[in-house]
Amino acid sequence: MLYKKIKDGIFYAGMNDKDRLIFDELIPLDNGTSYNSYLISGSEKTAVIDTMYPKFTKEYINSFDENGITKVDYIIANHGEQDHSGSIPALLEKFPDAVVVTNAICAGNIKEMLLVPENKIKIISNNDELSLGNKTLNFIMAPGVHWPDTMFTYIKEDNIIFTCDFLGSHYIFDDVFAVPSKELEKSAKKYYAEIMMPFSFVCRKYVKQIKELNVEMILPSHGPVHNNPSYILDLYEDWAGEKGKNLVLLPYVSMYNSTKEMIDYLAEKLQEKGIPSFKYDMVDGNLGDLAIALVDSTTIVLGTSMVLAGPHPAAFNTIYLAGILKPKVKVASFIGSYGWGGNLFGKMAEMLAPLKCDIIEPIQVKGKAKKEDYLKLDKMADEIYLKHKSLGLI
Ligand code: FEO
Repeated sequence: MLYKKIKDGIFYAGMNDKDRLIFDELIPLDNGTSYNSYLISGSEKTAVIDTMYPKFTKEYINSFDENGITKVDYIIANHGEQDHSGSIPALLEKFPDAVVVTNAICAGNIKEMLLVPENKIKIISNNDELSLGNKTLNFIMAPGVHWPDTMFTYIKEDNIIFTCDFLGSHYIFDDVFAVPSKELEKSAKKYYAEIMMPFSFVCRKYVKQIKELNVEMILPSHGPVHNNPSYILDLYEDWAGEKGKNLVLLPYVSMYNSTKEMIDYLAEKLQEKGIPSFKYDMVDGNLGDLAIALVDSTTIVLGTSMVLAGPHPAAFNTIYLAGILKPKVKVASFIGSYGWGGNLFGKMAEMLAPLKCDIIEPIQVKGKAKKEDYLKLDKMADEIYLKHKSLGLI
């Protein structure tokens, strides 16, 4: 455990998981992750805010003895997901007089998922307060970033806020405080894309609320603590904003290179018009790069070869992910090549329907693209240009 004083009476008590390569079995991690637990030592009572990923429970519990912590009165559960709540039962065993403090939804979750006894839970509501003596915990319900049970804990006297998953990043550190860098920004953006982007409207609301609080520090449950809160708040304001950037995402899978040649041609034509694109290999690419590109892209044109009369399965994976992550894509289309027949695009268009994009006429080609197909790709590039211009992106 990295046990470290953050300020008077506020301690970091979490762990780095540098060996973790993937989170939610979905997004590859470049920098591992951390599970942040915090110890708040008031003049009368001691509280722990969020606990530990179950894999590290033993080490986490031992660290209380190692650091001379002999009493915990309250365990604040800001969120019921097990990477933060997983060690609550063991912590209750270690400190049998402690009480878990959380909202009613989270209480239901930890009772079901961790079998925490009802008589060990104190239920609080929005804006309730809990005194530790010289420190007052104020609970702010924050449903939707990212579970319905999520809440923030604000310490009034210190003007600091514990935001659980919100404003976090999968990023390990030696010091607790964030040092802005390209790597941290990339990790935080990938994390935002997977975990928070489906709730971008709610993110905007809480970014505004935390900016208005003018807090001194943001302490999330993954990644470093932000003692310069505007760094992460400004990034979230951009990522969660309603308007995408002048960027076209081009995911592709190509069995005999015919589809890839069309993708390359379209990328060239877009570049000539001043529109950057990001080509993503749906078989060999890193899903994290796709997630990051989805945060900014205004248009997506997916290229796929035909496999047994339908799109390649990798194309379904990408379209499904785009559908559930709810990016701010406004325009979509499909291009692809087939050998003996089938329908490349019908099912994918259906899967993309929830995003309510304007769909540009797809292009399906037998084998290699011919002169007339390249003319259609020119027309597609023209239409994308006009869409981006009408959206004020060019
Ligand atoms: Fe990091 Fe929603 O758990």
